[in-house]
Amino acid sequence: MRLFIAINFTTEMKKTLLSMQDQFKKQNVRGKYSPAENLHLTLAFIGEYDDPEKVLETISALDYQPFDLTLDGVGSFGSLWWAGLSESKELTKCTSGIRHLLAEAEIPFDRKSFRPHITLIREPDKNDIPAVSIPNTTMRVSCISLMRSDRGKRGMIYTEIGRI
Ligand code: 2AM
Repeated sequence: MRLFIAINFTTEMKKTLLSMQDQFKKQNVRGKYSPAENLHLTLAFIGEYDDPEKVLETISALDYQPFDLTLDGVGSFGSLWWAGLSESKELTKCTSGIRHLLAEAEIPFDRKSFRPHITLIREPDKNDIPAVSIPNTTMRVSCISLMRSDRGKRGMIYTEIGRI
């Protein structure tokens, strides 16, 4: 199965992210919008791995305190547009802690450096991101999820299969 570790969002956070997508739509941007249920922040992408119990047990050793995340800005990686977050030392520490535990347990994961982003749209039909207003939105992160990713008939389906 295809696995990744992520932070899932509160209703309020999703509402703001959906309002950002709406602003793109109102400015006639067409593309593959992430559905509301797929909005998340990936901390580590594991990929094909068939022992989710081992992953959960491994990351359960993470020592972290709940922390806040605040939405801030938009950006792009080629044809992927994302919402960004304010700088957070706690988020960086939490992600490196998880990645360290995975490495120690010899669980494979994508080692590309962590660039926190929330994918809003893929393959937009415009080159430039229009200006969007982002209501000030903060959420408290008090759990981290182990997610499974499956290809559905209408795109990817992400399911939480465990949390710490
Ligand atoms: P993305 O939105 O930038 O594509 C599930 O695929 C999640 O894992 C997505 O959030 C995706 O980020 C992220 N991810 C990170 N590295 C990945 C990789 N090498 N392949 C697929 N998804 C990856």
